[in-house]
Order: sequence, then structure tokens, then C-alpha cells
Amino acid sequence: MDSNLAEVCFARIFLSLLLNFGGTSIAVYKQWIPNTNFENASNWDQNRVPCAKDVILFGSSKIVSVFVQASHSLTGMYLPLNGEFILAPGAGFAAFDGNYNPGCETASEVSFNSAENYEWYDPTLWHAATSLENLDLGKYIFLVDEERVPCQYDDVIFQPETSFRVNINSEQMIQLKSISIMGQNFTSDSALTEYMQSSSAKLQFQGQGKVQLSHTRCPDRSGCECGNSAAHERICAALLQNSRNQCPEVTCKDAIKPDGHCCEICGVIITLKYSADFDIELYRNRIFHTFLNLPRNNGIQMAMSKVQKLQTPLGIVPRGLDSFIQIVLIDNKTGPYAGIHAEQLANDIMKDIAEHGKFLGIVTANLQVATGSTHGISSHTIATIAWIVIGILLALLLLGITLLLHKNDALRSLSSWHLFSLWNRKKDQEGFEGTIKEGFDNPMFDTPCNPA
Ligand SMILES: *[C@@H]1O[C@H](CO)[C@@H](O)[C@H](O)[C@H]1NC(C)=O
Ligand SMILES: *[C@@H]1O[C@H](CO)[C@@H](O)[C@H](O)[C@H]1NC(C)=O
Ligand SMILES: *[C@@H]1O[C@H](CO)[C@@H](O)[C@H](O)[C@H]1NC(C)=O
Repeated sequence: MDSNLAEVCFARIFLSLLLNFGGTSIAVYKQWIPNTNFENASNWDQNRVPCAKDVILFGSSKIVSVFVQASHSLTGMYLPLNGEFILAPGAGFAAFDGNYNPGCETASEVSFNSAENYEWYDPTLWHAATSLENLDLGKYIFLVDEERVPCQYDDVIFQPETSFRVNINSEQMIQLKSISIMGQNFTSDSALTEYMQSSSAKLQFQGQGKVQLSHTRCPDRSGCECGNSAAHERICAALLQNSRNQCPEVTCKDAIKPDGHCCEICGVIITLKYSADFDIELYRNRIFHTFLNLPRNNGIQMAMSKVQKLQTPLGIVPRGLDSFIQIVLIDNKTGPYAGIHAEQLANDIMKDIAEHGKFLGIVTANLQVATGSTHGISSHTIATIAWIVIGILLALLLLGITLLLHKNDALRSLSSWHLFSLWNRKKDQEGFEGTIKEGFDNPMFDTPCNPA
């Protein structure tokens, strides 16, 4: 190893130690997206916040908690039987005094939209990030659908200064690490149970479901299951409710379905069997810093999690559930290119596992690939170019022979020979395409270092 490479490797190991200082610290934050704020235009039927000349309607049967950030003058308001306004300092309502803002010349009735049926188990209603800062910056992570809904070791956030209503009607206990509601962070069951008795909580949480808080991190360094597989049907029904329960069409042949995901994807699934040495956070960081963060891998997204799969060693008798690490890679390519970029990265990861798997606590790795093109687009293109070149050469050759033979007056007898020669060439060509395909492996630009 030359000294330059050694330096790079040292820097990389140092970086990964630095990033992992503090042990298995991954906490995923999941933030509820919808709100019932007064100033949110999309909460009103006319898609605008009511102004002074409007009459505001809350249906009498609406059950809602509404956060009001500013002061509003108004002409009239019909209130629901069961609801509350939460007023920020300085916020409130005053009678219309004749002054109004531009754009508010015509008076109309403006109704508050229904806030019912926003389901806890709807994966589209949550943002997920690895830190509070990343949540604020909008740096969200990619997850399989089941894990987009809060998992048992996640911290859940309902943003401060927002009101909301969420349907938690569920047979299953909802288990979380912590839950933050309007700026108050609950980490113990007793405090949360008390809060759940309040009138605000009854407006915010709809249904009979129960939330239980563990206040502990995942205790297993090889990772913890999300714990949402019992709710799989419900999660997928919520995800696909606007597309008549139909998954979007994918462009690749033999699309694959990751565990915990609702629909098939084009891309890659790597399934790892691991030993006691495996540390999911170390490994996730390794993949990020050695591969995913490279500019050439822009546009690829990875989800890594522990999943349970039925073990069927001989393909006949199920031996019970076993835990695996599932890595899902997708890219943003489309059509015949879908999944090809992810496949290239997967090949790099598989090489890394072949070299360093023992050290990383990886026992076996299984690769499933679904791409838009079965042969790989690159070899296909090259074969086409080769065909054109050969075609031109043949044409020139034939032209030469024709010119030559024209003089000798032997043209007629040769026309069948031309056909034969073309057919022969075609057979050669097929062999040629095969070689190109094999020779078209992905170059390795990056030599991972062995930190051992
Ligand atoms: C407004 O409410 C909708 C629906 O609840 C939500 O999706 C959106 O993020 C909210 N917008 C803002 C700016 O809070
Ligand atoms: C709530 O408390 C937990 C446990 O102490 C912490 O990990 C989490 O970051 C806190 N959530 C917020 C929103 O501050
Ligand atoms: C894919 O993502 C990369 C990086 O974010 C971006 O540069 C590229 O334009 C995207 N390609 C498509 C087809 O969206």
C-alpha cells in the first residue's frame, strides 16, 4: 500500500470513528405533516385564509383543535359543538370594523375543511430524518413503506405551534420511544396517559388506540425491527387509497418487492446474514461514506433495516422466522435505465463484502436485481454500434466485389453467395455480443480500505 492510499484510508477510518462516537445512536425522528392551523390556506374550502368580510363556518359536528397564530377581524363565525382554539400570544378575533385588506372586497362563506381520517398509519403523512436539524433542513431519508410510519424506537414529533387531528384507532398498541406534542416532549407513560385525558388530546387524537412510550433506544447493535409488520395491510391500504389500491407501474422486468414495502420496485435488494460482530450503524455509515456519498452515486437512495423472513432451507419446510439485514437501493433513472445505476452500486457493495465481510460481521450476502433492461443497456448500445460498423464494412466490401466482378461478367452467379456470407456474419455477431457483455463489468474507482 503506498503512503498516499494509507493516508486516505486512515482519514476515512478516523472519520468513521468520529461519526460513530457515542455508539449505536441512530434515532429516527418522524414528524407528522398535516396540521389544522387557522392560517394554513389548504385547511379552507376556498384555499385561502378567511378575511374580514367573510363568514367563517365550522360544521357543527366537526371535532377540531385549531391553532391561531395572528389576530383576525371577522364578520361572523359559526363554531362547532366540540372544538377549541389555541391562541398564540397576541392572536385572537375581533369584530369587523370596516377596514379590510386588499383582495377581501367580496364577502363570502369560507368553510374549514374536514380534518377527519388523517390516519396515523398513512406513510405519506410522515417525514423521517436522522436528526432534528435534518428535519428542519428537509433532509429526509428513504425508508420502506412500513417504516415510514413511526417504529417502536422512534421519536415522534408534532410540530410546536401547530394543531392537528390524527386517527389512532387501532387494535395494536402504538409503541414509540418518545412523542413531542406542541413543544412538550413526553418520554414516560404516566405523563402521556395524563395528557391523553385532557380535552386538547381528545380533539387531537381520534379513536381508541393506545400509545406506549419506552424511552429506550434499540438495545441490539445489529439493529431492531421496526415493529409495524402487523399493520402492513393497513399501511399499504392508506398508501394506495388514492390509486384504487393499485401500485404504480414499474418499467423493469421481474420487478422485486422489498420486505415491508407495499409495491414492487426496480432496483436492488441485498439480504445479509450477519454474525454477533455486526453493527448496523457502523455498516450504514460505511456504505454512506465509502459509496453513497460519492458524486457518481448521486440519485441513488438506500434503505437499510432489520427484517424477519421465513426460513425455508430446502424450500419445503419453513423453519421459523429469522432476522436478516435488508438493503434496498433505488435510483432516479427511468425507462430502460431504471435500476441500472443502483445495480452498479450494489456490485461495489458486494465486492466490499467479499473482501471485508468477515471483519464486518457479514456471513452471507444475497443480491436480487431488477433493471429496466435485461441485458444491460451499455452492452446493448455497443452491440448496435458494432452492427452498424460491420454493416458499413460489408457494404463497402460488396461494392468492391461488385465493381471488380462487373468487369468479369460473373455478377449473376455470385448473388446467392452474398446472402450466405451475410448470414454467416450474423452468427459471428451473436458471439461477439456475448463477449462484450461479459467484458463490460463496472470499473472500481474506489478501493475500500481494511480498517483491521
Ligand atoms: C397545511 O395543511 C396541509 C394539510 O393538513 C399540510 O399538508 C401542509 O403541510 C400545511 N402547510 C403548512 C405551511 O403548514
Ligand atoms: C424527546 O426526548 C427524547 C428522549 O430524551 C429525545 O431523544 C428526543 O430528541 C426528544 N424530542 C425532541 C423533539 O426534542
Ligand atoms: C438524479 O439525481 C441526480 C442527483 O440528485 C440529478 O443530478 C439528476 O438530474 C437526477 N436525474 C433524473 C433523471 O431525475
